[in-house]
Amino acid sequence: MTIHRAEMLKILAEAMTPVEREYTDIELSVSGTLPPALNGVLYRNGPGHFERGGVPYGHAFDGDGHVCRFEFVHGRVRYTNRFVRTQAFCAEEGAGRMLWRGFGTQKPGGLLANGLRLRFKNAANTNVIWQGRRLLALWEGGAPHRLDPVTLATLGEEDFAGLLRNRFDPLSRWSTPLLPFSAHPQLDAESGELINFGLVLGHPSRLLLYRVDARGMMATPEVHQLDRFSFVHDIAVTARWICVLLPFADFDIPRALLGLKSPAASLKLNTERPMQALLIPRAGGPTQLIDGVPGFVFHIAAASDRDDGGLDLHVIRYPSFPALGDVDGFFREVEQTGGLPRLERLQIDPAANRCSLSPCSEEVGFELPTVNPGRLGAERRQIYGIGTPVGRRLPFFSAVQRFDMQTGELIQQDLGADLPGEPIPTATRPDQEDWLLSLVYRGAERRSDLLVLRAEDLAIQATIELPNAVPPGFHGCWVPADPSEKMR
Ligand SMILES: [Fe+2]
Repeated sequence: MTIHRAEMLKILAEAMTPVEREYTDIELSVSGTLPPALNGVLYRNGPGHFERGGVPYGHAFDGDGHVCRFEFVHGRVRYTNRFVRTQAFCAEEGAGRMLWRGFGTQKPGGLLANGLRLRFKNAANTNVIWQGRRLLALWEGGAPHRLDPVTLATLGEEDFAGLLRNRFDPLSRWSTPLLPFSAHPQLDAESGELINFGLVLGHPSRLLLYRVDARGMMATPEVHQLDRFSFVHDIAVTARWICVLLPFADFDIPRALLGLKSPAASLKLNTERPMQALLIPRAGGPTQLIDGVPGFVFHIAAASDRDDGGLDLHVIRYPSFPALGDVDGFFREVEQTGGLPRLERLQIDPAANRCSLSPCSEEVGFELPTVNPGRLGAERRQIYGIGTPVGRRLPFFSAVQRFDMQTGELIQQDLGADLPGEPIPTATRPDQEDWLLSLVYRGAERRSDLLVLRAEDLAIQATIELPNAVPPGFHGCWVPADPSEKMR
């Protein structure tokens, strides 16, 4: 299949059209047959709004969080979608103009409007999780927003009984009254426990580790002081370790503080210097910093302990920090440098204080990796994700794919000019038949479908038609039906 670059760029631009309508519990039409055992709810989050008062946001990461809910009951699917009504979203809706700076967005009005304004909009757009009987919309720079699991109504910020209240220095408290709770918590499907982190930049910068038990009770956050600025999107948790990959970063505080530049433009990642792996023993004890992970990693696909005391990670590694605010620039960079994100195995050896990388599949790009839920650190065999179709020169992520870590086999479902989202596995037990759910933006028709793919061979089992186009988004979760949960 030949797809021209100009056509794909047009599709990507059109895909960023704001969501205009919210639907409440409507039934969707299904073609194909839904697996009878597929009963539960899929939640998925992503940016749904890209401008305010005619002023476009400066970065895709600033789009207002828009959550979709798909309820599967005995072969039928019902759909609800809602924007996350954060304080900033409601105020801006009311005013009809931009009132907050974003991660990559400056308010109109220059220095006067941006200077000394260090409270940035919590976009609540990156992930949505069900844990401790709570549905939470997540964004890595701020606190979670709690949503009603049925109506998706926003219930307010979740501060975990006050434990997210910032008690550090006055500047930090002023800019971030509630501590950041990242969008990549690690959930232990056996114990129900959640481990998450937050990064508070300052002098010094701090890494916070959170533990939330199955009932939703948070323990006192653990604080790790860092010796420099950094930028972290995801962490790895095994039975023995918490592993954080720390790139070298410079944050130009005066420029951001004075309002000269957005935080995104004030943050410079130095990918000439390899990242360091910070190893934190889960049982306590001294931490260890290990040099030598070149490039940049947003997502860690899988992690497990080795018998020799080391760690095995599968990471999605970029050769350098990608130009994420500029789609055209990103693809130009990829074409010029071969800079596609790729799935690689990262072996960390704490005893020898070194790590090594080896490629998994060199021929394709890989992003938005997922694995089956299970015990944290348990070995997985399959990594799912989106990728660049084999043999297609253009670096657009228009395939759903699966990599087998045991055999090295890669299989793909090429969707042509369509843009698939994160494939979310629905199995809850290893012996269960497994399906993947991926929300796909149909490039040619400017609408969206939810695909049900068979995890075994990625064959499309059913297509569920949405009434609206949903822009490409980030992460979500599958909540299997459980009468004891009483989500209705
Ligand atoms: Fe992510």
